[in-house]
Amino acid sequence: MLSFIDTHSHITDPRYNLEEIEKHWKENNISNVFAVSYDKKSIIDVTNVAFNNNNIYAIIGVHPDDCDDYNNETEELIKSLAKNKKVLAIGEIGLDYHEIDANDFEKKNKQKEVFISQIKLADELGLPIMIHLRDACKDMLDILHDYSHYLNNGGIIHCFGESVETYDAVKKLGFVIGVGGVVTFKNGKRLQQVVEHADVRDIILETDCPYLTPEPFRGQINEPKNILYIAQKVCEIKGLTMSELSEITNKNVERVFPRFGGRNNG
Ligand code: NI
Repeated sequence: MLSFIDTHSHITDPRYNLEEIEKHWKENNISNVFAVSYDKKSIIDVTNVAFNNNNIYAIIGVHPDDCDDYNNETEELIKSLAKNKKVLAIGEIGLDYHEIDANDFEKKNKQKEVFISQIKLADELGLPIMIHLRDACKDMLDILHDYSHYLNNGGIIHCFGESVETYDAVKKLGFVIGVGGVVTFKNGKRLQQVVEHADVRDIILETDCPYLTPEPFRGQINEPKNILYIAQKVCEIKGLTMSELSEITNKNVERVFPRFGGRNNG
């Protein structure tokens, strides 16, 4: 049966009526939605919603923009919540220099420190990591190489927006890429080239809703049902049918997130 999974969403955003968007995604054959945290409060929110809804799963961690939220207490909170098998990965974690002055090494170093702490935490918990990467490609690759012995559980570069060469580099480190709405944009050439070049077994689909609404709905608030428009564009680029892409990407998700793959085994 044709079904898709939204592997990166922020459905606990206060702008949503969860019942309403859940109705939409079910009508559109979205079988599962992964709710991703970014700060301490959203860690509580996404686990609450995942622990109380069969088809929703949680990914918990602290985003680089919110790195001041990361401390011993947050780490203990993540550890205790991650005992629940509905927590699939540590994320979104990473580096984002977009809002940072190029010479602000204090802020950059703080982001790196919090990212590395969470890489180690994910390794300790045996979970993959979901990486947010923006305007920090070189530092990211340096950290992933230096800490590769902590990356045995692999992970995802979410909302991948880098070059074909960076895709090749992260693939070698055991990472797959999250493809989102940007692939449908007129100015999404770079991502379209990556999708064309990439092994389809390295692609998982995501909305990053409420952000990055795909065409033809740009300008409106994004929601998980819009995975279908991202999937259609990926099919067009890869020469696949929707049912072929559904089968392949669902298998990819089960491989990348072992707890999700084993969800029916208790
Ligand atoms: Ni996100």
